[in-house]
Amino acid sequence: MTEQLHLMDLETYLDKLVLSQPLRDPAIRQAIRAFELPDGSRGLDAGCGIGSHTLLLAEMLGPGGHVIGLDLSTEFVAHAQRLAEQSSLSTQVSFRQGNVNELPFDDNTFDWAWSVDCVGHPTVGEPLTAMQTLARVVRPGGQVVILGHSSQMLLPGYPLLEARLNATASTMTLLAEGMKPEAHFLRALGWFREAGFAEPTARTVVGTVHAPLDDGVRRALISLFGMLWGEMQSKMAQADREEYRRLTDPESPDFILDSPDYYAFFTYSMFEGRVARE
Ligand SMILES: C[S@@+](CC[C@H](N)C(=O)[O-])C[C@H]1O[C@@H](n2cnc3c(N)ncnc32)[C@H](O)[C@@H]1O
Repeated sequence: MTEQLHLMDLETYLDKLVLSQPLRDPAIRQAIRAFELPDGSRGLDAGCGIGSHTLLLAEMLGPGGHVIGLDLSTEFVAHAQRLAEQSSLSTQVSFRQGNVNELPFDDNTFDWAWSVDCVGHPTVGEPLTAMQTLARVVRPGGQVVILGHSSQMLLPGYPLLEARLNATASTMTLLAEGMKPEAHFLRALGWFREAGFAEPTARTVVGTVHAPLDDGVRRALISLFGMLWGEMQSKMAQADREEYRRLTDPESPDFILDSPDYYAFFTYSMFEGRVARE
């Protein structure tokens, strides 16, 4: 029973990653461009999920480069491998199962490492452990970059409702309550410093969408509404729940994604540092 449930959760999770691609990929491309990958270099995508960013990284690196995608989930790794085989980049990427806290690579294996929505997430473990492990496998002078989804405005015209939905969601997640401020993703500069990285910097990457929305972005936004707020509807005040459903249910005559004025944005916070030279 537990195994069945686990499999169902995993499939749902995988579906969500696939669905989110049209929304997230343009922002991730911006972040990769800002990262300025050295041509022909060798990199690691830690916590690669279904491998879609591993492929984007390889595409930007050009033919001489290679990216290894690593993920804890064997199912995700298998999916990533299938995705790569269907692409023109199959020789420039490879995938393996592993834990970002105990990376199965020799010291100085990579020129750089990258991680999106993985390192720094409370469920992945103590961030300092992952940061030190990444510093070990990247050569001195090489860059480590971690990105995390950090905010969004998805209900234009309803700022108070959106603020209340977010407040209700935060009280229910381990991302806010009872967490030390230093452990929060937005404090990642401190992790870079503590792990001995040089030149830690931060920037914000913004994803923007507006009407008319194509089908992929529309499906991704519907999935995101559900992911952010769907499961805590019982905790919403009744008036907020009704308003939430009126705006986010595709069957509602007031479905917000049908508005010709629809505009939304979300941010990724991106932290970078260089492995200190010996
Ligand atoms: C939110 S997903 C992000 C996936 C991908 N980076 C993306 O942005 O599409 C988080 C991923 O981290 C993986 N993960 C969680 N803990 C991990 C760990 N300790 N080591 C490696 N991967 C881990 C999960 O299996 C999942 O694929």
